[in-house]
Amino acid sequence: HVVAAVIPAAGRGVRLGPGAPKALRGLGGVPILVHAVRAMLRARAVGLVVVVAPADDVAGVRSLLDSHGLPESKEIRVVAGGETRQESVRLGLAALPAEVDTVLVHDAARPLVPVDTVEAVAAAVRAGAPAVVPALPLADTVKEVTPGPPGSPEPVVGTPERARLRAVQTPQGFRRDVLTEAHEKIAAEGEGATDDAGMVERLGVPVVVVPGHEEAFKVTRPLDLVLAEAVLARRRA
Ligand code: C5P
Repeated sequence: HVVAAVIPAAGRGVRLGPGAPKALRGLGGVPILVHAVRAMLRARAVGLVVVVAPADDVAGVRSLLDSHGLPESKEIRVVAGGETRQESVRLGLAALPAEVDTVLVHDAARPLVPVDTVEAVAAAVRAGAPAVVPALPLADTVKEVTPGPPGSPEPVVGTPERARLRAVQTPQGFRRDVLTEAHEKIAAEGEGATDDAGMVERLGVPVVVVPGHEEAFKVTRPLDLVLAEAVLARRRA
């Protein structure tokens, strides 16, 4: 099997507050994206990484990666992203060499995913699952509401049974043909999806969950950066 990791890193990261695009912000003095790329390269299964950069900053991301001394034994391609995450992933898939048969899609915004989680996802695809997502049980109870204007009370529609819910992370692993088909079909339908596995589900292809990891959390809001710095400091101690 030839496994590639596609890292969508073309988001603006507005929820993190003002500043540089999220993937380029520092974490322990190193850009978030560099942590994410290293996390993929550390996995023995991964042979190649495709980074999907903001369309106006491909050269900047290329030189950023080159300046951080990443191992040269594995190829790192940098390509231009799109307006949505879904489009960015599609553009990343289009940049894969022919021999790649397994794809891990990993958010740049999850810089601290442990190598064991990456390997476990790749192994589950290798073992025959067409689509694999790492996920964790929820700490919070979840309500479904009828969304209203920001700040106004929202009517509750229902409460799904928490024990049956999982919060999904990345890397999500796929057979390449399955993910490519999902992106072609869903893009043609013009519908958005918040994760890649969701698109594969719509094809009717089975998706399985494997255990995720607390440290694979997504750096989205300012508090997440505080947590990420603390996790990194603990690892370095
Ligand atoms: O916005 P969100 O946190 O869901 O983004 C998840 C990942 O998708 C991030 O790594 C972000 O950089 C990436 N993304 C992208 N292209 C976009 C929007 C988001 O590559 N247009």
